[in-house]
Amino acid sequence: MRRKWSLSHFSVLLQSLLIMTSFIDWSNTVTANLNACLLVERGTQNLFYSFERSAAAVELAVQYANDVILYRVGISLNTTYTDIGSTCEARNHLVAHAMGLRDRGTICDVYIGPGCGSAAESLYDYTRSIGAFIIGSPAAGVGISAPREKYNYMGRISITHQNNANIILQFLHQQNYSASTIICDLYNSFYKQLSTLLENQMRTTDQKYYSISKFVQVDSSQITTRAIETILKTNSARSRVFILCIPSAAVRSFMLVASDLGFTAGEHVYLGVNLFPSTTWGNFSYSTGDDRDDAS
Ligand SMILES: *[C@@H]1O[C@H](CO)[C@@H](O)[C@H](O)[C@H]1NC(C)=O
Ligand SMILES: *[C@@H]1O[C@H](CO)[C@@H](O)[C@H](O)[C@H]1NC(C)=O
Ligand SMILES: *[C@@H]1O[C@H](CO)[C@@H](O)[C@H](O)[C@H]1NC(C)=O
Repeated sequence: MRRKWSLSHFSVLLQSLLIMTSFIDWSNTVTANLNACLLVERGTQNLFYSFERSAAAVELAVQYANDVILYRVGISLNTTYTDIGSTCEARNHLVAHAMGLRDRGTICDVYIGPGCGSAAESLYDYTRSIGAFIIGSPAAGVGISAPREKYNYMGRISITHQNNANIILQFLHQQNYSASTIICDLYNSFYKQLSTLLENQMRTTDQKYYSISKFVQVDSSQITTRAIETILKTNSARSRVFILCIPSAAVRSFMLVASDLGFTAGEHVYLGVNLFPSTTWGNFSYSTGDDRDDAS
């Protein structure tokens, strides 16, 4: 049976509301404007980070922060977006973007972004000098120019390459693998940053393991079957563990060549890195609808 709302229910509700609202100082007015400067990439096929995908969430979050939280303490949060392009190059224009904002009279109390580690590291050179904080989103590759610990005026969210590198290294150690060959796609910013940090991490934490492992650089979009064959053959004399820091389509090509060479009979280990399906990494799947689906 459904219970009807009685007058006493309403009275309780009203009392609760009155108690709650008595804690809110309705006389608060805005006493401070906080400006968050968003410096975020506009991604492409090869660059995963994209403001387009996060703009709506950012807008909702800022509105929520202003309407529900910050007004109580008299703060108004404002954001300014700057498009910082769509590459992850070590040589970038982050300082110019930050200076441009300053020249136009925009004071940035905090910087949010960028996605690329190298861009965040460049931005840091400027923001540290003015004492401003960077909320890296995710600035996953930070730690390339200097150890991560040197960037103490920067916080990061979510996944980082440092964590991914640690997971890979832990896996290798737990399995007691004695040497690895790491295939790195230097033309894909995600894998380039991941393999750079993996190499740094291995060199600094385990010099011995690093000295017997090998990092092989490839351009997976151009690589031929013959080249893959050479890489697998020459390296398998020394190491049976291959870490494939390359997009999914290239992982499939590597595995097919490995199968043709008889390298998939249980003597070798292949580790592909793909966090979830995306246009940057592709889709981990044996099936592409070509005549090699069965072999895959
Ligand atoms: C918010 O930022 C924009 C762009 O910089 C600026 O035009 C606007 O005046 C700012 N609003 C407040 C309340 O500071
Ligand atoms: C790795 O080596 C240690 C020490 O010899 C051993 O206890 C462990 O079981 C080995 N792990 C695997 C996965 O073989
Ligand atoms: C990945 O593959 C699945 C199944 O083939 C498909 O439904 C999905 O759209 C693909 N995702 C991407 C990002 O390509």
